[in-house]
Amino acid sequence: MNLLEKLELGWRKLASELDGKQHAERKLLEALQRDYQEETQLAEALKKQSEKVPYDHLRRKLLEIAEAEKHHAELLLEKIRELGGETPETADPARGDAALTTLDLLKILEEEKEEYAEYLNARALAKEAEREDIRQLLERIREEEALHRKELLDIVSRLNPLPIDR
Ligand SMILES: [Fe+2]
Ligand SMILES: [Fe+2]
Repeated sequence: MNLLEKLELGWRKLASELDGKQHAERKLLEALQRDYQEETQLAEALKKQSEKVPYDHLRRKLLEIAEAEKHHAELLLEKIRELGGETPETADPARGDAALTTLDLLKILEEEKEEYAEYLNARALAKEAEREDIRQLLERIREEEALHRKELLDIVSRLNPLPIDR
């Protein structure tokens, strides 16, 4: 192989690596936008549900979790912007898309479980896109989701003391 061919090969390899990274970044951006929407909707749903809870301390706990989800959404939005993405549209309850805001606590608990898995997936994308800062953020959020799941399970079982399939 002559020098020119070697150079061309090297260049092509670099281009395809850049391509791969760009592709991973796009996938990561999409995942973050999805997560942003879910966090926002979850925060709304938790707030709505808290209104129905007749015990102050449990209601406060739900509102705390709702605040944490809102904070997650804000942190995700920062990274979405860094990646050049736009603020994703969130469902407007006033427009009749209230599906998530009418979720009961058990469904919210399910959502938390799914979020936990979703963050695993997004974390892998962050690694592929070589965004260590985002990978760490997603890891931190994921740990908090695990905590929420425990807290919600506790709240649900206090409100509805039936045996729950764990
Ligand atoms: Fe969250
Ligand atoms: Fe959560």
